[in-house]
Amino acid sequence: MHQEPKSGTRLKTPEEVILGTPGLSSDLRQKLVPIISALTRGGKIMASLISRGPLLGITGSAGKENIQGEEVQTLDRIGQDTFCQALGQTQKVRELLSEEEPLPTFFPESDPDGLLVAMDPLDGSSNISVNASIGSIFAIFRRSRTQEPEDLFGGDRREILAGAYILYSASTSFVMAIDQKTYLFTMDPSFGGEFLGTGEPVFFPSGGKIYSTNESYAPLWEQGIQDYITWVKTARQPVMTSRYIGALVGDLHRNLLKGGIYLYPAEGVPGKGHGKLRLLYEAYPMALICQFSGGIATDGVNPILSIKPGSDLHARVPLIAGPMDLVSEFHKRTGHPL
Ligand code: AHG
Ligand code: MN
Ligand code: MN
Repeated sequence: MHQEPKSGTRLKTPEEVILGTPGLSSDLRQKLVPIISALTRGGKIMASLISRGPLLGITGSAGKENIQGEEVQTLDRIGQDTFCQALGQTQKVRELLSEEEPLPTFFPESDPDGLLVAMDPLDGSSNISVNASIGSIFAIFRRSRTQEPEDLFGGDRREILAGAYILYSASTSFVMAIDQKTYLFTMDPSFGGEFLGTGEPVFFPSGGKIYSTNESYAPLWEQGIQDYITWVKTARQPVMTSRYIGALVGDLHRNLLKGGIYLYPAEGVPGKGHGKLRLLYEAYPMALICQFSGGIATDGVNPILSIKPGSDLHARVPLIAGPMDLVSEFHKRTGHPL
């Protein structure tokens, strides 16, 4: 469970937490610290722009579609440019995959042993114009030693090292999963906007009673999932209550702090039959955050982190994510025990 800082607690930055993490080699720390700094720097810029969004005229559509056939918002592009530039400047990222670009961006000036980053620069686009919660999501990978030097996102051997998200809401949160632990930081907009946290790990509380899903799609789900949702509302003791923001970052963050299960199952809709959320930059980082907080994320059958990415870097997967007790219960009742 997340603890509010006690008075007198010396708060830490994400960089200080990484430098104090025992399970990371000094080589990895030297790569991760500038990358995490780039994410928080980008987060500060985004938070500042978002807080003035309508005044700057940046809360509308960019007037085109992305690789997924979805309407691109102006803030999707701003997020892309902000984080791409910040990550490129570190020279520790060899290649960057983004929801907003069909192909990964290669940084020729970077360390040849640099890490790989996959990102959703702006999550929850449909919330932008109504001043509701939105976020940014990141997965940081290292390449396997056996891979060819320049075989980057095109290769099939990469290991996720860290997952992170930024939540732009009443305050701006930075959540980072690294070396078996998940940490929460809050941006202090004064004094240069530093992200600060207790440095204590965050865990899902037990006994959560929230389910988060877009229930309007229920008729398209397999019968077992429809039955599970009916059961949590009627027969389960205690019955569960529904909360849905419509931005994965916002929904997962609430569930992490309050205890709840997030469901975006596969649908029978053509082109969406494999779910909506993207494996590499939405499901993977959230799965690592869940795992390091005492939870798990699955595609309804298998753990997300056991799924090998194929050749489609923008592939979608169903996503069921939350604390171990709630996700296990879901799997048991839908016939795929974990
Ligand atoms: P994005 O804005 O990056 O395309 O992601 C939106 C995703 C996710 O954040 C959210 O949980 C989901 O779409 C909401 O989808 P529905 O509107 O279908 O519920
Ligand atoms: Mn998204
Ligand atoms: Mn997005």
